Amino acid sequence: MLDAPFARLQPMDFRLCLAPLKGVTDAVFRTTFASFFEGVDWAVTPFLSTPKGMRVKPSFLKDVLPENNRLMPIVPQVLSKNAENFIPLALALWDLGYERVNWNLGCPYPRVANKGRGSGLLPDPVAVERFLDRVSAAMPNRLSVKMRLGRHRADEIFRLMPVLNRYPIEAITIHPRTGVQMYQGTPDLDVFERCLALCRHPVIYNGDIVDPAGFDALRRRFPGISSWMIGRAAVADPFFCDTLKGRRWQGSERNEIFKAFHDTLYERYSEKLFGPSHLLDRMKGLWAYFARSFEQGNMVRKKINKSRNVRQYEEIVSDFFQGEPVWR
Ligand SMILES: Cc1cc2nc3c(=O)[nH]c(=O)nc-3n(C[C@H](O)[C@H](O)[C@H](O)COP(=O)(O)O)c2cc1C
Repeated sequence: MLDAPFARLQPMDFRLCLAPLKGVTDAVFRTTFASFFEGVDWAVTPFLSTPKGMRVKPSFLKDVLPENNRLMPIVPQVLSKNAENFIPLALALWDLGYERVNWNLGCPYPRVANKGRGSGLLPDPVAVERFLDRVSAAMPNRLSVKMRLGRHRADEIFRLMPVLNRYPIEAITIHPRTGVQMYQGTPDLDVFERCLALCRHPVIYNGDIVDPAGFDALRRRFPGISSWMIGRAAVADPFFCDTLKGRRWQGSERNEIFKAFHDTLYERYSEKLFGPSHLLDRMKGLWAYFARSFEQGNMVRKKINKSRNVRQYEEIVSDFFQGEPVWR
C-alpha cells in the first residue's frame, strides 16, 4: 500500500468531514482515500438502516468494523424512525468502540421519506421529540444529527430547533435544502443563517462546497463554524480537501497520485466485490464523479459506461492516463 506521498499538512483552524455517500464512500473508499490524501479529518459513514428485530448481525456492521476503518476516523450513521430499533444498533456500535453515532434526518429519497424516515421525519417535531426522549435515555454514545431544512418547506426546521435544543446533541450538520429539492437549486444560506442563531449545538455546514473561492466566502459569512462537510466534490476531486488546506502539486504529480489511487481502489474492489460485473458497476459509479474533474471527463465517462467487461475498462482507463489528462 502506498503512503501519502507528501509531508503532513499544516494544522488549520477548520476541520473537514467527508460526507456519507451511500454506494460510494464505503470502508474501502474511505481507507484508500486516507492512504493517499490528508485533507479529510473524519467521515460520517453512509447510513446503516435499522434491522428488523432486535438482533444486530455482525455482517450488517461490516462497513463500520474498526478493522476495516483503520486510517480514517468515522462516525457511523443510522437511518431510523424507531427508537426501539435504533437503540440496539447504537449499543452494538458502542460495543465496537464507537462513542459517537449520527442520526440521519436528511435522506430525501421518496422510498425512505414516504415512510417517515430521513427527511420524512422533519415535518413531525413530536415524533422527533419522542425518538430523542427514548434514545438519549438509553444509549451511552454521543448523538449527532445530519439534517436538511425540511421535507417540503425550508421553515420546517424552525419548529424542530427548539426540540433539538432540549437534548444533548453533540453537533448538527445542516444541508440547507429541503428533501423534495433533492439536489436542485442552491443551498438556502439565509435560512441556514437563521438556524445558526437559533441552534444551541455546534453546527456543521454541508452542501455544494465545490471550489476554494466558494469555501472562503462561506467561511467569511459564517466565521463561527469550525467544521465543514464535503461530499460530491471530494469524491470528484480527491485532492479538493487538501487544496482547501493549502496543499499544491507540481506538473504531473496529480495524475500520478490519482492513477495510483484509482488503481488501488480497483484492486481492492476486485478483491472485495463478488464478480466482475459488480466491480465494473462500482467503477462506473466512481467515474460519474471523477469525470467531472477532467477536461476529457465526458469523453472517458461515455467510453467507460459503454465498457462491457473489466478488460475493456482497464484498456480505456490505461489509455486515459497515458494521454495525460488535464485537470479542470
Ligand atoms: C449518491 C449519494 C448518496 C448519499 N448517501 C447519504 C447517506 O447515506 N447519508 C446521508 O446522510 N447523506 C447522504 N447523501 C447526502 C450527502 O451526504 C450530502 O449531504 C450531499 O451530497 C450534499 O453535500 P455535497 O454538496 O458536498 O455533496 C448522499 C448523497 C449522494 C449524492
